[in-house]
Amino acid sequence: MNISKFVTPEIIFGCGSLNQIGDSALRLGAAKAFVVSDDEVIKAGWVDAAIDYLKQAGLETEIFSDLTTNPKDNEVNKGLEKYLESGCDAIIAVGGGSPTDVAKAIAILATNGGKLSDYEGINKITRPLPPMVMVPTTAGAGSEVSQFTIIVDSQRKLKMSIISKSLVPDIAIVDPELLKTKDSELAAATGVDALTHGIESFVSLAATPLTDIHALNAVQLISKNLRQAVEDRNDIEANTNMAMASLSAGIAFSNAILGATHAMTHQVDGLLDHHHGETNASILPHVMEFNLDTVPVKFKAIAKVMGQHIDGLNLSEAATLSVDAVNELLSDIGLAKGLAEFGIKDEMIRTLSTNALNDACLITNPREATLQDIEAIFRKAL
Ligand SMILES: [Fe+2]
Repeated sequence: MNISKFVTPEIIFGCGSLNQIGDSALRLGAAKAFVVSDDEVIKAGWVDAAIDYLKQAGLETEIFSDLTTNPKDNEVNKGLEKYLESGCDAIIAVGGGSPTDVAKAIAILATNGGKLSDYEGINKITRPLPPMVMVPTTAGAGSEVSQFTIIVDSQRKLKMSIISKSLVPDIAIVDPELLKTKDSELAAATGVDALTHGIESFVSLAATPLTDIHALNAVQLISKNLRQAVEDRNDIEANTNMAMASLSAGIAFSNAILGATHAMTHQVDGLLDHHHGETNASILPHVMEFNLDTVPVKFKAIAKVMGQHIDGLNLSEAATLSVDAVNELLSDIGLAKGLAEFGIKDEMIRTLSTNALNDACLITNPREATLQDIEAIFRKAL
């Protein structure tokens, strides 16, 4: 048997669990917490609530929120400067994937020095990071449990994947109540990101029985709950199931890595600053078609948990239904769109594909992909 490793943070899950944030930071030895968030989450009131709990526990705080969707290296540098000036000794994120990834990137530079591109790829971080507590406000990125941070290199206009066990936060607090303030569009896009994490990690070359169980659980929960979560943002059952789905997908992809969809979306997001979940929606079905014949048993399992009727079908027919199930879901939540709608043109495909070949996520795609393969998938996804 091959040797595999499996890492997760301590996970605190449940409605109202935000009130654990002060105690969590204290248990990690923090005295002053650097809270990374964004303007939308601050407006929703979650940062005030988190800071109240931190103060009740006796901690001082400093807030940093000068960041955007698809966070950039220069935003991380600003955050680092503020962190170093502030005298903080722990990093907390309250937000979606962007604040969480920025928080992790600040943590890297705070104790390891240099520039972010020095750490691009797998296991380049050598020194321990400050204590980290992550509180997601979206159900999608999974960054609160993952060993990933994805930051745009503003010079090269692409997303860098930085992957290291030391990026797994110490504590993840997943409170489904926090999801109700995001709108339907964001719920749809982030939900598709989680779906993509579940599917890509399930068929990944680095998948193990420990990651498979979380990946399939995520795909099933998303298939059953995302439509309702998009329809009614106050449905606490749908939000709780989506929070669990995102968490499960995050645990799965953190340990099994991802695949060609993410290797490709990272390039589009870096170029156009487009929402990562929507880019995934355009590309995922085409990458699934590309991978179908390589791991049909796995795609059959995906079709089954997504509610497709596979009895009496041969393996290939059953596996293909996984793509149908994804396309139906994307159509139902309004995300069955081609990349051309977001501004991708044929002449951009060569550069996007060349950069995708260098993305660490491509290494674990179940079927080896050449430059021509990636270009062909991009053209189908236009
Ligand atoms: Fe993603």
